[in-house]
Amino acid sequence: MKKILALVMSVALVLPIMAGCSTAKSEKADVVVIGAGGAGLAAAVEAYDNGAKVVVLEKMPMVGGNTNRATGGLNAAGTPQQEKAGVQDSQQLFFDDTMKGGYNKNNPELVKVLTTEAKNSVEWLTKLGADLSDVGRLAGASVNRAHRPSGGGAVGATIVQTLKKAAEDRKIDVRLWNEAKEILKDKDGNVTGVKVVNKDKKEYTINAKSVVIAAGGFSANQEMVVKYKPELKGFATTNHAGATGDGIVLGTKAGSKLVDMAEIQTHPTVVPGKGVMVTEAVRGNGAILINKDGKRFVNELLTRDVVSKAILEQKDKVAYLFFDEGMRKSLKAVEEYFDMKLVTEADSIEALADQLKIDKNALKETVGKYNAAVTAKNDTEFKRPDMPITLDKPKFYAIEVTPAVHHTMGGLVINNDAQVVGENGQPIKGLYAAGEITGGVHGGNRLGGNALADIVTFGRIAGKGAAKFSK
Ligand code: FAD
Ligand code: FUM
Repeated sequence: MKKILALVMSVALVLPIMAGCSTAKSEKADVVVIGAGGAGLAAAVEAYDNGAKVVVLEKMPMVGGNTNRATGGLNAAGTPQQEKAGVQDSQQLFFDDTMKGGYNKNNPELVKVLTTEAKNSVEWLTKLGADLSDVGRLAGASVNRAHRPSGGGAVGATIVQTLKKAAEDRKIDVRLWNEAKEILKDKDGNVTGVKVVNKDKKEYTINAKSVVIAAGGFSANQEMVVKYKPELKGFATTNHAGATGDGIVLGTKAGSKLVDMAEIQTHPTVVPGKGVMVTEAVRGNGAILINKDGKRFVNELLTRDVVSKAILEQKDKVAYLFFDEGMRKSLKAVEEYFDMKLVTEADSIEALADQLKIDKNALKETVGKYNAAVTAKNDTEFKRPDMPITLDKPKFYAIEVTPAVHHTMGGLVINNDAQVVGENGQPIKGLYAAGEITGGVHGGNRLGGNALADIVTFGRIAGKGAAKFSK
């Protein structure tokens, strides 16, 4: 009888958790991770590997968040992948590019951690099974350091699938449709757990000594974006619907300091009316930007704030990404845009110009001039530093683009150990944060490829620290 009772009780305790809709009033874990995007999953895997019992909360019906959408690459310097591709890079150059790209507003200590550890993040992901063998160029980088799947495939889905599998292999308790509502603390300021609402709108508590906030940015929260940067009113976003800045509210209520909240980035090449971002890697692999007069108007490899501004100064605040078959062949990620029917295509430059209703002679002259600059290795007009191919292989392609809200650089203040820093400048005991929810890494402008480096690197640091603290 005793045995039967024990069995019934253990099934009653375990079943609701497996269903992802716990009705228990209170549970216990060592580490609770809020958000199952790249930062959260990396933190969860590291916390588990450092001996912790981990629960991951995800408010959406799927894991991955914005990380699922990442395309162009993950930046790292000094990797075997770069060596194989003959790229000469250094952590110092990576540091310098990042600080310059962020207008030196970045916290240099965090940038140091990012730029020295990113190569270990690539190694860690590769060991977990991710293919990051292709190394390409993104804007603001002095050399090719954006790591992505072979053939230039989109990087985000690969990273999410890799981390999801790692979490599944470890049987980490990942709960979809479970939204963190409050971080709990005792009277001495120690974190004691998280209040959660499950799919059935039932509230419950998980008691834990350590909590990692990895809830992502707030680009999809138009009200919050406009509060911090009014000039972005009416802009579309590239982000998933869950990027609403919950972590900012959770963190500040728990006493966190905020930094750089007005630093919100637009991505320059987003399809008008659709919100589909066309990866910077398209320009990195050779595409140029032309306006409705058929002319180039900017060095396409300048940082995204500069290129966004330049596009907004053109007729109808739009531009066209122009490329040829050679560029298409070099980057698998573009096939998605063809599948989505976002690309205008033609057998000749003149025929493409006709379809776009722009002057065919102007477009022909622009492309001819650009190809001559590629051959001469000197773009006298716009000083583009890297021109990998001439654009002369039919077919020719164009995608209409305009800027949209993309990344929120500001957020919770963290230290080098990914501990959340309180208003008094001291770490909040047991509270960690990683990923786009944090501020300070990217300063006034994030370079393409640096967010993934950030989320995996600081996600891992947060997970390790949280596991150790919980013991
Ligand atoms: P996310 O991946 O967004 O994950 C946060 C998770 O937290 C989400 O799943 C969210 O639903 C969940 N959550 C939020 N609130 C709660 C709550 N209260 N309770 C429970 N869960 C919650 N960066 C690069 O470096 N390279 C690229 O190539 C690149 N391409 C990009 C392309 C696109 C279209 C976009 C939108 C971004 C791109 N970025 C890229 C930026 C990068 O993808 C993001 O900055 C990064 O993925 C954020 O990771 P994260 O883990 O911090 O947040
Ligand atoms: O254009 C892109 O692929 C986006 C990169 C990024 O946001 O880092």
